[in-house]
Amino acid sequence: MTSTRTSGRTFPAGFLWGSATASYQIEGAVAEDGRGPSIWDTFSATPGKVLNGDTGAVADDHYHRVTEDVATMKALGLQAYRFSIAWPRIQPTGSGAVNQKGVDFYSRLVDQLIDAGIAPVATLYHWDLPQALEDAGGWPARDTAHRFADYAAEMARALGDRISLWTTLNEPWCSAYLGYASGVHAPGRTDAAASLAAVHHLNLGHGLAGSAIRAELGETTPVSITLNLHVMYPEDPTSEADLDQVRRADAVANRAFLNPLLDGYYPDDLLADTAHLTDWSFVQDGDTDAIRIPIDLLGVNYYATQKVRRYAGDGPRQQADGHKASAGSPWVGADDLEFVEVPGPYTAMGWNIDPQGLVDLLGSLHASYPDQPLVITENGAAFADEVSADGRVHDADRVAYLHDHIDAVGQALEAGVDVRGYFVWSLLDNFEWAWGYDRRFGIVRVDYDTLERTWKDSAYWYRELLRTGSVPPVEIAPTLG
Ligand code: FCB
Repeated sequence: MTSTRTSGRTFPAGFLWGSATASYQIEGAVAEDGRGPSIWDTFSATPGKVLNGDTGAVADDHYHRVTEDVATMKALGLQAYRFSIAWPRIQPTGSGAVNQKGVDFYSRLVDQLIDAGIAPVATLYHWDLPQALEDAGGWPARDTAHRFADYAAEMARALGDRISLWTTLNEPWCSAYLGYASGVHAPGRTDAAASLAAVHHLNLGHGLAGSAIRAELGETTPVSITLNLHVMYPEDPTSEADLDQVRRADAVANRAFLNPLLDGYYPDDLLADTAHLTDWSFVQDGDTDAIRIPIDLLGVNYYATQKVRRYAGDGPRQQADGHKASAGSPWVGADDLEFVEVPGPYTAMGWNIDPQGLVDLLGSLHASYPDQPLVITENGAAFADEVSADGRVHDADRVAYLHDHIDAVGQALEAGVDVRGYFVWSLLDNFEWAWGYDRRFGIVRVDYDTLERTWKDSAYWYRELLRTGSVPPVEIAPTLG
């Protein structure tokens, strides 16, 4: 039995609707037009790192299908498109002279977007670090932050005022902790101390890059950063021990970024919790000022929530935090942290579906930073889509997920939170990092044999939302418990 639900909510005029992708996940053409290797090329070519041995070598072949993909965006009615620039296309070894063919690719993309009436939102770093920079130390090395700022300045010169919003980094939590502590993402290191140095150099890279862009294009140039803030609840809200684990996890996952970025300091409890790993002497005089540049928008990526408690020390510790099993923990300094299974329903990632978590997150950000405008830069869901006999993809679960999370954004707006836009993740099915092509997040399906694109029901639904500005009704899928 299906039933219909509708919030009927209408969004304010000027609220920006878009969709997001990332370079390594969609482009392919990894050895074309002078692109250098990135850490994801190396990592995905290493046996056992990515499910089914998948790599981004072809991905969605977006590099050769830009025109078709921009036409899809236009037909959807997107007002903005959030894409990322592959640093190794611009500087194949991460520094020095610019590879003009790489610049030309993004320049053409941006021109096509503008012709289609779509605002280009450019992320400078969505995880594809030039391999040469990793070989020189990667994000744990301070020099990488300076190289990043140089690259940002080159892009500002190349694309200039055609970019509506610059985003320095996507989810530095993943770059630092999944890349250098748990090792489930490239470059696959498992060194907790190095991951904390990476945190700082990513933060520093953000500040230096943002300042470099504004030095090129003017102080009023819109700059943002996108974080994946973790929404964590204690298993027992009356337990001091559980609450202390929430505090630790919040320090290492959220405040390690929010405090330097928006307040100009690293929190004392984070320094204390990690003192056995590092003395944080990589934070030099002036760094926190360099990091805390004004940001026009804080990008929020939201998927799910987590419930935690203190590990009691008997039996295997649960690590149900939605990431692949790993040698190291990304929860650096939170050694007694345990994840408790959260109630379903779940997506194909095993992530729980909890739109209230988004209401809570936006509310708490607004409470801490009332003057900081926010934007949802990613939200969406993977499901095991099937092509039906009619040739369509009836992804009712995804439509319901989008409906409920967009409604959550509406609730936050109504409560006075300053949210300026929403970008669905993702425009296309794509290379989902350690899960390869096995997890599909697109509102448009990609057939990985033919590379043909097919609109899923969620794409039609989203088009209707964009056309009318109000949330269309949704048939509740019987599969969602
Ligand atoms: C986010 C990433 C994005 C995508 C989604 C599912 O962490 O930014 O590239 O993989 O998760």
